[in-house]
Amino acid sequence: MKTAILKMLRETDGYVSGQEICAKLGVSRTAIWKVICRLQEEGYQVEAVRSRGYRIVDGPDVVTSEEVTSLTSTEWAGKTVVYYPETDSTNLRVKHLGDEGALHGTLAVADRQTAGRGRRGRSWESPGGSCIYMSLLLRPDIAPDKAPMLTLVMACSTAEGIRDCEDVEVQIKWPNDIIIGGKKLAGILTEMSTQVDYINHVTVGVGINVNIRKFPKEIQNTATSLCLETGRPIKRAPVIAAVMRRFEENYGIFMQTGDMSGLMGKYSRFLVNRGREVLILEKGSDYRAYAEGINRKGELVIRREDGTKENICAGEVSVRGIYGYV
Ligand code: BTN
Repeated sequence: MKTAILKMLRETDGYVSGQEICAKLGVSRTAIWKVICRLQEEGYQVEAVRSRGYRIVDGPDVVTSEEVTSLTSTEWAGKTVVYYPETDSTNLRVKHLGDEGALHGTLAVADRQTAGRGRRGRSWESPGGSCIYMSLLLRPDIAPDKAPMLTLVMACSTAEGIRDCEDVEVQIKWPNDIIIGGKKLAGILTEMSTQVDYINHVTVGVGINVNIRKFPKEIQNTATSLCLETGRPIKRAPVIAAVMRRFEENYGIFMQTGDMSGLMGKYSRFLVNRGREVLILEKGSDYRAYAEGINRKGELVIRREDGTKENICAGEVSVRGIYGYV
């Protein structure tokens, strides 16, 4: 009932009368009053005016299931939100939820992770109360070798979702780092549970630096946060809801063809490396080339100095700017 009342308050401009809430939810005025009091205790500023009703003025920066769900208007992506005040890793939680039969689109969100995981076996700094740690469970009917493209679909959706909420210039460093001003704002880790030729489920985990102001020494020159970029604190739940909305839309486009055909134009426009000279780091042979965009398989299309074109596969090589990270 808390989520339903929050949603009604959020979706109404001005006051919602107690009578309207009673009629819609089939509960008593006393029950509504109790929920309003609980919301106020949790930090929501809800105004109660006799003969007009209730109006939400402001809310706390929380990522609880009620808060995220009350802001989410999707059909399936993030429709069910499982919230952890603290957990090891939302990717691990989603993997277990997936094994137990949870629905396609189930989203795990944590306020803090004690064992946040990054790509290439790295760890992901996950302090409490300041960032977004979320993982989405997917059950796509595609061949396992196509699943890595879901990382690119999420990269596109994260970039768009952030841009929907804040006036910042977001870019993507291929394949899946979200960048602002040449520094990393967010990362994506996709993991998969498969049979030989069948996907059981896929976990797409996203970490977004939101209100963190100080990073560990090793990453302080290459990492940034939304609060550092905009100069003010940002509420996390609306960003989660916006990314889910974009992901649902982009996933639909991806599933029509099972590849990046419908998204490669959009993705390439976000690409920080596009038209730039990059350093391709391959085992044993590093070389310079120009990045042109991605192809329908999500590979990076590069042009070597002698003019020959090549498609680069994520996972086999990594790409850097010639003067640094991007
Ligand atoms: C990267 O190395 O760039 C990927 C980082 C992914 C971090 C997110 S935070 C939510 C989810 N849970 C994890 O343990 N990792 C991902």
